[in-house]
Amino acid sequence: MTNQIIENILSRSAAKYYDAKAVLSDEQIRELVRIGTSAPTSFHLQNWRFIAVRTPEAKARLSPIAWNQPPIIEAAVTFIVIGQLADASVVPQRLAPVVEAGIMPAHLIPEWENPARGLYDDNAQLQRDEAIRTATFGAAAIIYAARSLGWGSTPMIGFDFDAVSREFGLADNEVPALLLSVGPERQGNWPQKPRLPVLDVLHFA
Ligand SMILES: Cc1cc2nc3c(=O)[nH]c(=O)nc-3n(C[C@H](O)[C@H](O)[C@H](O)COP(=O)(O)O)c2cc1C
Repeated sequence: MTNQIIENILSRSAAKYYDAKAVLSDEQIRELVRIGTSAPTSFHLQNWRFIAVRTPEAKARLSPIAWNQPPIIEAAVTFIVIGQLADASVVPQRLAPVVEAGIMPAHLIPEWENPARGLYDDNAQLQRDEAIRTATFGAAAIIYAARSLGWGSTPMIGFDFDAVSREFGLADNEVPALLLSVGPERQGNWPQKPRLPVLDVLHFA
């Protein structure tokens, strides 16, 4: 079972070494995020935000609060991938363009909003879980879009959450879920590492 998309997935690895001279234009960065935001989110909440750290000044602010990981200075861009605590009250607003596009009948909006309220209202743990899930799906889409364009990527959890939130002005309802560096690579990166055998991680039921 193979095709170009599967090849793209199977050949991705986490990059450590980037071409430090490479630049992605704001338009290319916008396009990556546009593709990222095509990922699914619970109740179409789209509870994410992306800060593209790409100037030398911004990289210098991020690097010391992110373990001085080399991709932050060297990769063309590092996204602070932010998940927002799930808030069911925004569901009607998020669904309005879906109704306008003729995809969803307006009378279904409460059928989405009410269960969303049942899930998230008064459940801080689930609100936060959803923030992380949303950010992760968005990051994954960017990772594979980048790969298909010939660029490397590095998801990173090695950073100081509070410091990043403070330094880059995250709101109280925003969680810095991960950092994601993206850009043209230089030589020396490892290929994708072997995985656990499928039989160890797959259970049919
Ligand atoms: C949530 C998450 C956090 C990670 N954090 C870091 C990190 O802080 N620094 C780093 O160099 N790599 C980081 N990685 C990359 C992993 O080490 C890498 O994906 C893993 O070793 C598998 O290698 P592969 O992606 O090349 O197959 C992270 C990956 C994920 C998914």
